[in-house]
Amino acid sequence: MSETALFSLTEEHEMIRQAARDFAQKEIAPIAAEFDETGDFPSKTIKKMGEMGFMGIEVPEEFGGAGMDTLSYVLALEEICKADASHGAIMSVNNSLFCYGLLKFASDPQKQKYLRAVASGQAIGAYSLTEPMSGSDAGTMRSRAVRDGDHYVINGRKSWVTSGPVADYVVLFTMTDADKKHHGITAFIIETDKPGFHVGKKEPKLGIRASATSEIVFEDYRVPAENRLGDEGQGFKIAMTVLDAGRIGIASQALGIAEAAYEASLLYAKEREAFGQPIGQFQGVAFKLADMKTRIEAARLLTYNAALAKEKTKKSGGRFTLEASMAKLFASETAMFVTHEAVQIHGGMGYSRELPIERYFRDAKITEIYEGTSEIQRLVISRLETGLR
Ligand code: CAA
Repeated sequence: MSETALFSLTEEHEMIRQAARDFAQKEIAPIAAEFDETGDFPSKTIKKMGEMGFMGIEVPEEFGGAGMDTLSYVLALEEICKADASHGAIMSVNNSLFCYGLLKFASDPQKQKYLRAVASGQAIGAYSLTEPMSGSDAGTMRSRAVRDGDHYVINGRKSWVTSGPVADYVVLFTMTDADKKHHGITAFIIETDKPGFHVGKKEPKLGIRASATSEIVFEDYRVPAENRLGDEGQGFKIAMTVLDAGRIGIASQALGIAEAAYEASLLYAKEREAFGQPIGQFQGVAFKLADMKTRIEAARLLTYNAALAKEKTKKSGGRFTLEASMAKLFASETAMFVTHEAVQIHGGMGYSRELPIERYFRDAKITEIYEGTSEIQRLVISRLETGLR
C-alpha cells in the first residue's frame, strides 16, 4: 500500500483503515469466493460490520453512527472492497445513499427513527431511483405517489435496487406531479414490512454477486405523509445530491478492487517463471505493472481529493459534484483496466475460478455502470466545465 505525499493521514484515519483491513482480510476474504458462487447475502459479516461502526461511518454518534469524516469512510470502504466488492457495495449504499440522504434531508424524528437504526447496523438501508424504463434519464420515471389525506398511495416498479431483497428501509424517489417533470419527483422513506411492498425479480448479475439486487414493486402501498423526505418536488435534487456522495463510495470500491488485482499481479510476476526467469522481468509484463500502479495512484488522489472536497462542504456548504464524478469516472475505468491486465498477467490462472482474479475482473465492471455510467460522469463533468447543456 502506498502513501501519497499529498494526504497525511491522522491517527484516527490510520486506526479505521487498519481495523477495516484486519476485519476484511480475516473475516471477509476467506468467504468471498463462496458467497460469489452462491450469490447468498452475507448477513453475518454485514452484521459484524455494523457492530464495528462501518455501516454509518460519517453519521454523528447521536444518530447511531461512528461520527468520523469522509476520508475515514473512503479508507475503510477501500479495505473492505480489497477483500470483497460485494460487501463493499452493501456498505457503500448503506453509508452514502441511505445515511447521507437522511443526514442531509431528514427531519429530527425521521433521523431518530430511521437513521439511527441503519447507521448503527441494526437495519439495512437502500436507495431506489432507477426503473425498468428510466436509468440514466432518471427524471422520466413512471412510478407514482398520489396524496390521499395524511398518506400517499404508491404504485409502480423500481429496478436495480442494491440490498432491495433485504433492506428494512428504502429511500424511494417517485413522481407526485408528472407534469412538472424533475420538479414533480418526491422522496419517501419506505418501510419494507408494510402491505403493498413486494420484492420483485432478483437480478442475475455478472459480478458483486453476493450483494442482493432486485426490483421492488409497490401495489397501493400507503406511506404516511410524515415519511416524506424533504418537500414535494424536491426529490430529484435530493437524488442527485445523494448520488454525488455515492459516487465517492463507488470510486473507493473501484480503488479497492484495482489494488487487490494489482497486488496479486505483482506477487505473481515475481514468483512465476517462464523461459528461465520471473515473468516480471519481461518488459511486456513489467510495463503493464508500471501502468497499473500509476493509474491506481492517480485514482487514489482523485478519490481522496473528492473525500476532502465533500468534507469541506460540511462546513462551507456548496457541492462536490465535479470532484465526485471525476473520481468515479477515473477510478472505475482504472479498475477495469487493472483487472483486465491482471487476468492477462496471470494467464490461464487468471481465467480460472481457483484464484480471485477473474472475480475482481467481473466485479470491476459494475463500477463503470451503477450510480451513473461513465458516459453520465463525462456528461456531468463536461457540463460543469463548459457551462453548456
Ligand atoms: N446536485 C444538486 N442538484 C443537481 C445535481 C447535483 N449533483 N445535478 C442536477 N441537479 C439539479 C439541477 O440543478 C436541476 O435543478 P433545476 O431544475 O432546479 O435547475 C435539476 O437537478 C435537473 O438537472 P438536469 O437538468 O441537469 O437534469 P438531467 O435530466 O439533464 O439529468 C443527469 C442530469 C446528470 C443525467 C442525471 O439524470 C443523472 O445523474 N443520471 C444518472 C442517474 C444515476 O446515476 N442512476 C443510478 C441510480 S443508483 C443505482 O445505480 C442503484 C443502486 O442501488 C446503487
